[in-house]
Order: sequence, then structure tokens, then C-alpha cells
Amino acid sequence: MGELQERIAFITGGASGMGRATALLMASEGATVIVADLDETGAKSVVSEIEEAGGHGLAMALDVTDTSAVEECCRAVDDKFGRLDIAFANAGTPGATGNEVTREQYDLSVGINLTGAYYTAQAAIPLLRKSQHTGSILFTSSTAGLVGSHLSPLYSASKGGVVMLAKSLALNLAPEIRVNVICPGPIDTPMLPKFWSRESNDDIDQRLDAWVEKDIPLRRRGKPEEIAQAALFLASDRASFITGVALPVDGGFVAK
Ligand SMILES: NC(=O)c1ccc[n+]([C@@H]2O[C@H](COP(=O)([O-])OP(=O)(O)OC[C@H]3O[C@@H](n4cnc5c(N)ncnc54)[C@H](O)[C@@H]3O)[C@@H](O)[C@H]2O)c1
Repeated sequence: MGELQERIAFITGGASGMGRATALLMASEGATVIVADLDETGAKSVVSEIEEAGGHGLAMALDVTDTSAVEECCRAVDDKFGRLDIAFANAGTPGATGNEVTREQYDLSVGINLTGAYYTAQAAIPLLRKSQHTGSILFTSSTAGLVGSHLSPLYSASKGGVVMLAKSLALNLAPEIRVNVICPGPIDTPMLPKFWSRESNDDIDQRLDAWVEKDIPLRRRGKPEEIAQAALFLASDRASFITGVALPVDGGFVAK
């Protein structure tokens, strides 16, 4: 019997990278997974993968910057399932890098990374309160939410906000709902090279590898499946006494 048997999990940014890996893993552990993403085709394809493996999923088109759409999505989940057990606010963007950004770029980054995460949690809380288990909220921040980032102050600011959001909600929602945040280091997903394209699109792989060799103690990039394992653990009953934790999954980057 899977660890998440009969649980309902909602994952934003579930069509790609860490969200996709987590959706597949949670479904393989028995959860019904709602894969919500701006990329509806990608979300449907993840749900097809889940179903081909014998699991259950539902794809939803969602732009997390649209607060009414987030609420509408959660209403639809409530109508269909009557509750949520796990809400994973994972959608994110590297956004504009560098020190100077336009107001439009600022609003988009903060809109997806922080405001989107905030309202995803807010819309999910009433459904999580109806869980038969202890409901669990997970966020994806970044190591850039724990320490400053030379690549993008804006990204770092938005992800730092997510860490404090998670800790504050953990205090306010205990004991009914546990809230934790994962802080990934460099993870091999379509997003990773985008952080390194500020100066140029040339030699991104080589520049990334040189940085990883120098700054990541485990001397490699992480895999989305390694984030999925952390998400599964934090959302499962194995983490029943863990709330308010910002967990780096980063090959040791912030240990220095
Ligand atoms: N890849 C890394 O190295 C890294 C490191 C630290 C943190 N992160 C964070 O991890 C999370 C997952 O990123 P990933 O690396 O898997 O990237 P990814 O690009 O593979 O996946 C991101 C997903 O978010 C979706 N998305 C983007 N904007 C959205 C919106 N407005 N509404 C709904 N969905 C939206 C995309 O369509 C995509 O499916 C993000 O929050 C990211 O900031 C990534």
C-alpha cells in the first residue's frame, strides 16, 4: 500500500521539472494528483503518464498570478473531491536577472513566485481543513530564498518571501495543517539554464558546470526526482512532527 493512499494532492507548476517529478511520485504512492499549470498541454501529458502507470490524476489549466482563477480551481477541486490533503505551491519563474528590472518584470516575478504561492495556499486552506489526515502545505522556494543570489536579487527577494510565508503559516495553521518549504539548489530542469542566460546564451552548460564544481559540495546538479523525494517525505505521515521547516535540497550549497 502506497504512503499517500487515498490522499488528494494539488500541485502548481506540475507540468514540468520538479512539479512533474513530484506528481508522478505522489501518484505512484497512491495519491490522486491534480496537476495545475499555465501549460495545459504539459499538465495533460503528466496526467496521461500517471494514468498509464495505473494512477489517478486530473489536469487543470491555471495561471497562479490570476487570484480568481486560483480560487476557481480550488472550488472545482472542492466540488469534485470535497477536500485536499496536500497542496504544493511549486510554480515559479527565474524572472528577470540582474540588478535593474522594469516594474513589469518585477510584478511578473513577484506575481508568480510570491503572490501566486500566497493565494494558492490561501485558496487551499479551507479544503485542507477538511482532510481526514493532518493537511500539508508545501512551497518551493530556493537556496536563493535563504542566502543572497548574485544572479538575481529579484528572484532571491521573491523566494525569501516564500520562506517567511511558510514559517508564518506553519505557526498560524498548527495543529491542523503542517507547512514546510523546500529550498532547491541547482536542479536539472528546463528552468536551470534560464538563470544563466543574463550575460549571454553561449556556453551556459560549461559556466554552470564550473560554478557547480566550485560551489556545490556534492559537485553535481540535483535531479527533479530528488526534490520529489523530499516533497513526498514532507507531505507524508513520516514527517508528522515537522512543520515550519525550510529544507535545503542543494548538494550542500548553503552549508558553507
Ligand atoms: N531548477 C532549479 O535549479 C531551481 C532552483 C531553485 C528553485 N527552483 C524553483 O523550483 C520550482 C519549480 O521549477 P522547475 O525547476 O521545476 O522549473 P520548470 O520550468 O521545469 O517548471 C516550472 C513550471 O511552472 C509553470 N509555471 C510558470 N509560471 C506559471 C504560472 N504563472 N502559473 C502556473 N504555472 C506556471 C511552468 O509552466 C512550468 O511547468 C520553481 O518555483 C522554481 O523557482 C528551481
